[in-house]
Amino acid sequence: MHFSSIGALCIPLAADAQLLGGSIGNLLNSLAPAPKDDLRFKNFHPPGSGDVRSPCPGLNALANHNFIPHDGKNNTIPVLLKGLAEGLNMGADFTVAVGGAGLLSSNDPLSGGFDLNDLDEHSFPIEHDASLSRQDFYFGDDHSFYAPNWNSVVSQFHGSKTDLKTAAKAKYSRVQDSEKRNPTFTYGIREFIFSYGETAIYLQTMNRPSANGVAEVDYVDVLFREERLPYKEGWRVSPEPITLASLGEQVFELYSVSPEPAPEGAQVTKDSLKDAIIAVSVLFYRSLWSWLNETYADTTTGDWICEVLLRIDGRHLQRCWPLLNDTRSVDDM
Ligand code: HEM
Repeated sequence: MHFSSIGALCIPLAADAQLLGGSIGNLLNSLAPAPKDDLRFKNFHPPGSGDVRSPCPGLNALANHNFIPHDGKNNTIPVLLKGLAEGLNMGADFTVAVGGAGLLSSNDPLSGGFDLNDLDEHSFPIEHDASLSRQDFYFGDDHSFYAPNWNSVVSQFHGSKTDLKTAAKAKYSRVQDSEKRNPTFTYGIREFIFSYGETAIYLQTMNRPSANGVAEVDYVDVLFREERLPYKEGWRVSPEPITLASLGEQVFELYSVSPEPAPEGAQVTKDSLKDAIIAVSVLFYRSLWSWLNETYADTTTGDWICEVLLRIDGRHLQRCWPLLNDTRSVDDM
């Protein structure tokens, strides 16, 4: 982990905003899915020599289609905001919160970005056991696609469409399998909520948030197995933005039909995903805030960062606020 230097990551963020054509306000206002005939949807290039990839099939697919850097390197928040909106219609709230969590594992926080393989870091901040399509860290490689695990998930869908109940049951079956075979199996509230979030995200990106968990099984399979957007199979980017709120709602719905018991002390609500991401992102926000105060509060860079945070979700920031000066470690919260 590299928290001490995280404050410094804001300088390149500002540089990126300029590269992307002006202020953060312009960037945020311009975020939209790419037109359906954008060539990047058709052009798929798997990673070549020197390119890096992650345990995340969504980011890998976006890199394979050049929505984010194809080499997988230096994914800054502005780059992610633009790429995730264009390729998958991900809302800015999702990208800043989850991208902020991703920055915590950067090997080079001074760059303001992370390389996709930085996300391999086990059990922090997002990687976890019982993934749908990866092996647990205990078995060696926690980041490459692992067909036996994914086959055991996808084979549970009978017919051509997904549904909430089967998706929840399939996710739970991975937990049960890891629990049985992995003597170091780690699965608390963070892992429980994040893994529901990941099921919600494949259901929503492979159709749209209002589809109630229904998507083509083939599209989902292409996303995981080939890390490709299933454009030639007929998939098109969701016309509805996929946000922390839409995912949080789906997490709640999945949990409501799941056979999986919640870990002791967990209360699952529509806000649980957002709360879990905030809990891991708080270190990022805290470092950012102290950096703003101490060094750059009265510069345009400081203004720029404040504007990002406030415009994206003032309420989200407000919820973080009391935590920013909290000196406890996140594990103790
Ligand atoms: C900046 C944004 C993102 C970051 C930092 C991120 C990071 C991660 C990480 C570290 C994992 C591994 C968790 C595990 O151990 O299973 C993961 C899993 C996953 N991510 Fe992402 N992700 C992001 C955006 C997306 C997007 C846009 C999608 C859309 C499809 C997506 C879909 C998934 C799915 C489906 C999984 C579960 C994989 C599995 O269980 O095998 N992610 N993500």
